[in-house]
Amino acid sequence: MRSLIALCVAFCFVGLGSPAFADKDMLQKNNCFACHSIDKRKYGPKLVEVAKKYAGDPDAAQVLARKIQAGGTGVWGEDIMPPQPQVSDEEALALAKYILSLP
Ligand code: HEC
Repeated sequence: MRSLIALCVAFCFVGLGSPAFADKDMLQKNNCFACHSIDKRKYGPKLVEVAKKYAGDPDAAQVLARKIQAGGTGVWGEDIMPPQPQVSDEEALALAKYILSLP
């Protein structure tokens, strides 16, 4: 019983420390929806289109995680995505994986 509790506590800490997965709430929290929408073109590309563009690219999660933090331009047009310094490394990777998993 005691080890069960220890296991549970350990998992809770892992869960809080490094977000292994992302969802819409995390996009909301990080203000991504100011410029993006899941399936509508706003200032930035729609996220389902991003998923389609990088489907089958094994490096996509890393590349997009870096882009989410650093910002950039030129992939989807002339518009500029500003850097998102509030996003941690783990969050950026989780967000990239979530976006890539969109159907
Ligand atoms: C101020 C507006 C703005 C905000 C805020 C913003 N983006 Fe973007 N995003 C853009 C624009 C514009 C582009 C297209 C950049 C380009 O063409 O290279 C883009 C592109 C992207 C791409 C595709 C990158 C590529 O190289 O194909 C991803 C993924 C992305 N954004 C995720 C996010 C996430 C996650 C957040 C929140 C943490 C976010 N964006 C916040 C404007 C924004």
